[in-house]
Amino acid sequence: MTALTLSTAGAATLRADALVVGVAKGAKGLVVAPGAEAVDKAFAGKLASVLETMGASGAEGEATKLPSPSGLKAPVVIGVGLGPVPENAQKTAGYAAESLRRAAGTAARVLAGSKKAAFALPIGSAEDAGAIAEGALLGAYAFTAYQGGGKDSGNGGPKQPLAEVALLGAKPRDKAYKAAAERAIAVTEEVNRARDLINTPPNDLTPEAFAAVATAAGKENGLKVQVLDEKALVKGGFGGIVGVGQGSQNPPRLVKLTYTHSKAAKTLALVGKGITYDSGGISLKPAGHNETMKCDMSGAAAVFAAVVAVARLGLPVNVTCWLALAENMPSGSATRPGDVLRMYSGKTVEVLNTDAEGRLVLADALWKASEEKPDAIVDVATLTGAMVLALGHRTFGVMANDDAFRTAVHETAGEAGEQSWPMPLPAELRKGMDSPTADISNMGERMGSGLVAGLFLQEFVGEGITWAHLDIAGPAFHESAPYGYTPKGGTGSSVRTLVKLAERMASGDLG
Ligand code: BES
Ligand code: MN
Ligand code: ZN
Repeated sequence: MTALTLSTAGAATLRADALVVGVAKGAKGLVVAPGAEAVDKAFAGKLASVLETMGASGAEGEATKLPSPSGLKAPVVIGVGLGPVPENAQKTAGYAAESLRRAAGTAARVLAGSKKAAFALPIGSAEDAGAIAEGALLGAYAFTAYQGGGKDSGNGGPKQPLAEVALLGAKPRDKAYKAAAERAIAVTEEVNRARDLINTPPNDLTPEAFAAVATAAGKENGLKVQVLDEKALVKGGFGGIVGVGQGSQNPPRLVKLTYTHSKAAKTLALVGKGITYDSGGISLKPAGHNETMKCDMSGAAAVFAAVVAVARLGLPVNVTCWLALAENMPSGSATRPGDVLRMYSGKTVEVLNTDAEGRLVLADALWKASEEKPDAIVDVATLTGAMVLALGHRTFGVMANDDAFRTAVHETAGEAGEQSWPMPLPAELRKGMDSPTADISNMGERMGSGLVAGLFLQEFVGEGITWAHLDIAGPAFHESAPYGYTPKGGTGSSVRTLVKLAERMASGDLG
């Protein structure tokens, strides 16, 4: 885990492997962002032109390395792009939080293998410091558990993440700055915990193993943890979770984590899709569609990480978290297309396609969560390929049974630095799920099938409960080149949104 310190040291005198400065696109060329004055001085005021000579333009995602002149203790200076100079740029700051986060993430990523870096980026407020800290700690992430014996073997093994980040220009004795740094550490460690779970191969992360991890981490952070195993699930009538899990040698689990606060006025319920591997079941996925399906538990990883983060932050809001864990496999005991499942809510579902399994496990968990009448339920799931087609790989869809809540979730995501987009639940798509045999089928019209999935879930939300559904199938798992603070593999999508949502509920400005 990368360490973070707020430092009052001067950029020139601090011992570090590298100094990170911000550069931006100005009207007349490259501009060095505030915070790097001492570094510029060591370059005799020529830092911008030297960086420009080396090809820097200030564009987001860019990292330009320079050898340090005498007068700087750190041997290397790295200029990271912040994008265009903001219109409201002031002497100290004015850069958008997400620009700071991404620039810090890029810097931390290119510094993999280094011991210590000093970040001299523009900080005008505690919020800026928090954003830089978040970007750095997320960008430094690497999943190396299965490479080179898990250690830097020195013979081609993986590079270890940047070990220490010192933020210059942050005020270590100022309460607001200290709180921002502590929040950034808690939230990013939990995002990285979600990433670890997602990246863990499915032969190791079975439903039982996930439940064990959740139990240990939950207890460590003062949460109440309850686990229903396969026998309890059958006995309890959880037909959806049992039906999806029955084809696998690795039986399903339903995990409940409860966080309560004595001063809480509201309760938020979080429900996560935790398919530890989605082969499609008897409706088997074709080759090419299953190599990354270990990521199908990203929703469960996100809600789990979020509730732990809320506990670490001690927020005055109650949060209950439900992990619907199963492995979707084909076998002689698997659910067949044509089978009818009796769900926990009592409704019957005709399974026409065993690859539409996420909605089946979520339906049981949503109904269970509804029994406690929380003020709001948010479910998170890698639910449909259709949402990836609609919104691409960086944006999750937000559906809800309440327009104001959907808007609030979308806006909260934006504040947290996560891209989302509101999607409708058109009532006319419901009839496509009519079944001649059961109350509903798990398949509907192909067109708009991401919304069809949302409409299916809505049937399992208790009467009168505010509910939102996040389909993170696009952003949950990043397959192309890393950018900003986003690595390859599990991203931890939606964790920051959920934490911010809990913060808003705690402060009484939501729900
Ligand atoms: N886990 C998949 C959805 C998915 C696709 C997640 C791509 C991440 C990336 C889900 O269980 C699934 O298979 N959905 C089907 C539903 C269909 C059978 C109605 C889909 O989207 O094709
Ligand atoms: Mn599936
Ligand atoms: Zn799935």
